[in-house]
Amino acid sequence: MSATVRNIAKPFAQDLTCDLDFSTAALEHALKLSAQIKRTPSRYTKTLAGRYLSLLFEKPSLRTRLTFELAIKQLGGDAVWSIGPIAEREPVKDVARNLDRWTQGIVARVFSQGTIDELAKWSSVPVINALSDLYHPCQALADVLTLKEHLGSLKGRTVAFIGDGNNVAHSLMLDATRLGMNVAVATPEGYEPNADIVEKAREYGTVLVTHDPTEAVRGANAVYTDVWTSMGQEMEASVRLAAFAPYQVNSKLMAQAHADAIFLHCLPAKRGQEVTDEVMESAQSAVFDQAENRLHAQKALLVMLLS
Ligand code: CP
Ligand code: NVA
Repeated sequence: MSATVRNIAKPFAQDLTCDLDFSTAALEHALKLSAQIKRTPSRYTKTLAGRYLSLLFEKPSLRTRLTFELAIKQLGGDAVWSIGPIAEREPVKDVARNLDRWTQGIVARVFSQGTIDELAKWSSVPVINALSDLYHPCQALADVLTLKEHLGSLKGRTVAFIGDGNNVAHSLMLDATRLGMNVAVATPEGYEPNADIVEKAREYGTVLVTHDPTEAVRGANAVYTDVWTSMGQEMEASVRLAAFAPYQVNSKLMAQAHADAIFLHCLPAKRGQEVTDEVMESAQSAVFDQAENRLHAQKALLVMLLS
């Protein structure tokens, strides 16, 4: 698997195919706008009046699909959606050139990052990655918003990601480092994050990659985990279950983090696997703030890209 990391952030973001389509300035703006929209949603109820969004989902979704639909509706627009393989009946490039005649933006959740890149190549309207095998940039935006709300300043603070070096870890690394955070990732051997993406994130900040979860969480201000088996990897589930067992986020591991550390999870969570029920339900858990922030962050994205 090779990473499609864009080296040059576009000065004016047209798409959000991966986190780096947004320059650091655009990322900071998105964060401010998300907070502003969250504070005063009534000021934005007509911002995207008459604008329509295409929602294409090759994989299941609760949060992403519903929050995009709510976001566009609460901004005065509307959405149409389609579930299933994007290129089953015709090439992606034809799908892109249908949707851009009808709607002002395309949000797609796909198996392969190549499908997002192909949509963006052929579409004349913005394309937003709603999760691929490599990235989950909409999630990362809500994550950094949640981190900012709970930690205040992000500069010099540390977020530890424990488990699979996956799409969620990649996007978190790219956004958190650009906002001045240190990132520590602990994975089993063979499940490390993509080396190209780690290298890219290290241009912006400190990224520790280790196989020792205790080393990663020691003193961390936030501890983040995600499922051990991502959508599309179901055939590997039993092998993964064994490999990841020492990487569970439980109270013992949380006790190694900073005393005020928060717990994050993109959800859906598999309680008893990557996280215990106790940690999910603890006072440290900010997972439902994170889920709420998907809505506010995506409103900001849509305002930035569609208005
Ligand atoms: N976190 C997240 O993307 O959730 P869904 O898979 O439910 O959209
Ligand atoms: N890594 C997970 C995230 C789900 C929101 C997956 O890709 O299935």
